[in-house]
Amino acid sequence: METPQRIGVVGAGQMGSGIAEVCARAGLDVLVAESGTDALTAGRRRIEQSLARAVRSGKLSETDHERALARIRLTTDLDDFADRDLVVEAVAETERAKVDVFAALDKVVAREDAVLASNTSSIPIVKLGRATSRPEHVIGIHFFNPVPVLALVELVPSLLTGEQTRSRAEHFATSVLGKQVVRSSDRAGFVVNALLVPYLLSAIRMLESGFASAADIDRGMVLGCAHPMGPLALADLIGLDTTQAIAESMYAEFKEPLYSPPPLLLRMVEAGHLGKKTGRGFYDYGSA
Ligand code: 3HC
Repeated sequence: METPQRIGVVGAGQMGSGIAEVCARAGLDVLVAESGTDALTAGRRRIEQSLARAVRSGKLSETDHERALARIRLTTDLDDFADRDLVVEAVAETERAKVDVFAALDKVVAREDAVLASNTSSIPIVKLGRATSRPEHVIGIHFFNPVPVLALVELVPSLLTGEQTRSRAEHFATSVLGKQVVRSSDRAGFVVNALLVPYLLSAIRMLESGFASAADIDRGMVLGCAHPMGPLALADLIGLDTTQAIAESMYAEFKEPLYSPPPLLLRMVEAGHLGKKTGRGFYDYGSA
């Protein structure tokens, strides 16, 4: 199976920068796009900090660190993606933003059978495919945060995705990036978020109703169920805006009350308390 050499990543937020990092560490040429230079600079800083962390923990040599950084280029112009073999879109979790990116990629990416993937967790892949003239090459490749640490990728073909695209995406995730895959139908939330998000929302409702403190809810799940972190700390890590967006997509799809975002989550997002990335969510993180 051919290994894609030239990778494009659209979006340099938490997920996009993590995806760019794992691609560069796998030896691939990576081009990352953002809408503005400030966002690009922030993305570059996130990648540098994460690579430095891997060096400190002995997982990466100084030489490999430098090599990985040298493989990553940044741009504010999607037209630079013309020569990409595989692109992963990782912009904000809204249908409008993602549809616009896929429509633009369709015009720009020259290789007709390039894989156009989305890191979405809740927007229908078929809608992203239909924003292009090549839905058979559009697929969901959904990573988990922190991308360099977590082993899983969800593979999500739509009803229009071709078998060749599915197998090339699986080869990329497993043989090239060293991840493990689970496969899901094109349903909001896929496998993991369909189970995870109602749990996070239940923890927020528990806090909102005064049932227990944030610290005790989280300690309960860490010490009682051996989770690496509690649900409120995890919502802060994912980002409360992203948690809300996923919940809303799942609620729109299934109309199940358990997916409905609770008022406390909505108000915190409105207040700009988005979790770790803004320095404040259910916990304080100092300056972000
Ligand atoms: N980037 C890169 N590496 C990181 C990192 C980051 N942001 N955070 C931690 N790490 C690395 C550390 O360097 C360390 O590596 P080492 O073992 O080689 O030393 C390792 O991860 C463990 O880190 P720490 O010792 O600092 O801290 P913890 O042991 O507390 O682990 C954690 C931190 C990895 C975040 C762990 O708590 C964890 O796995 N939590 C659960 C995260 C989770 O559930 N993510 C999924 C969210 S859902 C999602 O992403 C889907 C989306 O659609 C919403």
